[in-house]
Amino acid sequence: MKRIAVLTSGGDAPGMNAAIRAVVEQGLHHGIEVLGVRFGYKGLVEGDFIPLSIADVHHKVKRGGTMLYTARYPEFREEATQLLAIEQLKKHEIDGLIVIGGDGSFGGALALTKLGFPAIGIPGTIDNDIPGTEYTIGFDSAMTVALEAIDNISDTAASHNRTFVVEVMGRHAGDIAIWAGIAAGSDAIIIPEESYDIADVARRVDAGRAAGKDYSMIVLAEGVMGVEEFVKQYSEVAPHQSVRGVTLSHIQRGGNPTGRDRVFATLMGAKSVDLLIHGQSGIYVGIINEELAVFDIVETLEKTKHKVREDLYELNLELTERIID
Ligand code: F6P
Repeated sequence: MKRIAVLTSGGDAPGMNAAIRAVVEQGLHHGIEVLGVRFGYKGLVEGDFIPLSIADVHHKVKRGGTMLYTARYPEFREEATQLLAIEQLKKHEIDGLIVIGGDGSFGGALALTKLGFPAIGIPGTIDNDIPGTEYTIGFDSAMTVALEAIDNISDTAASHNRTFVVEVMGRHAGDIAIWAGIAAGSDAIIIPEESYDIADVARRVDAGRAAGKDYSMIVLAEGVMGVEEFVKQYSEVAPHQSVRGVTLSHIQRGGNPTGRDRVFATLMGAKSVDLLIHGQSGIYVGIINEELAVFDIVETLEKTKHKVREDLYELNLELTERIID
């Protein structure tokens, strides 16, 4: 193996740069040249490759976003497009590809492997929604940004004795909502994986107030509904409360990655190079119980579903269950 390439695909996630840096340094350590592909699979098809050196990556470890740029590129589902990518990879004498992205991006890596070109995935998405692995690059940073925002909102919420509904990202997954919600001591966490009763949410908020709280916080995952719709429904059952809604949106994807995101990204970046060197492909790396793990793309994506931490969700219900006299 003489030359490999790395790309980032789908939504950017803080920590992707730390993974790129690890791929480059581990590659060079083994005498392998590393090329970066700009703009994900789109750049791959268009042959948008750049050489990567230590000087290119060493400052980037601490930066959010992706230094290679990214794109959403549904065209890559077509075999004809995948063959064009393989042509480019061959033309540039590349022996293996590392794809940092979500499960859609892994589909691309798998397709290339099936067509005879070795590719390996690294989970990178703030949503933490990839089956198998317990952790995806960017989740910890996004959750921390969401938490800081909720903490800030709680200052004004307390001053006015208000109830806030804060909508967080996560696409179809409730992970950011659960973790940020628990960490912020929220009165309710609303996620797509669990049904909710709006009257019960209002009852919990009232009970919290009766017990002495001077504000209330409801964290809503975007996969349930938009915040405006939720506030409308909520205000109908709790007309006595002063309610405001906030959508955090893309602010959660920005900022410097947390130490945890950088460390796991580094571990997975280096491991993916080692795996390519050992002739493995059609797999992705991940984290289980804080340790590196390797997953078969087909087996895991087809047979496993991502699970949210139900224990945390249940704990929040338990903590906010109060009896009003
Ligand atoms: O997958 C990451 C994510 O930020 C989701 O949480 C969100 O639903 C989506 O991407 C937003 O996508 P875009 O940036 O393309 O609007």
